[in-house]
Amino acid sequence: MDSHLAAAYREDRLQRLVAPLQYLATLALAEFPDWKAIALTGAAAAAAGDRAGVRDSCGNCHAAYRAQYRAAMRTRPVIAANPGRRP
Ligand code: HEC
Repeated sequence: MDSHLAAAYREDRLQRLVAPLQYLATLALAEFPDWKAIALTGAAAAAAGDRAGVRDSCGNCHAAYRAQYRAAMRTRPVIAANPGRRP
């Protein structure tokens, strides 16, 4: 994933997470049914300045899918899926 996400979160620049999280939602795959909803919930929380809500979104997706994503898609890093749109 993009370290920019972690940096923006750490520095409390939640507005800078809105677009990346919306973009992340578009990367949803059939194998990960809740992916899109989790990412969009995070984007809405970021837009609202809700830091705890953003953290829940990051955490929920990682808990649900990170290990599985790595196991199944080692050759498809999240960002490399569309480098031209790197936020
Ligand atoms: C919709 C799912 C989803 C959301 C939401 C999400 N992540 Fe991730 N994240 C992933 C996946 C999948 C990986 C593993 C990607 C990989 O290994 O290529 C990951 C990995 C990471 C990593 C590890 C570094 C790396 O390159 O693997 C960091 C740091 C990270 N995410 C930060 C965040 C932060 C901060 C947020 C919230 C602002 C967030 N993520 C929200 C799915 C998500």
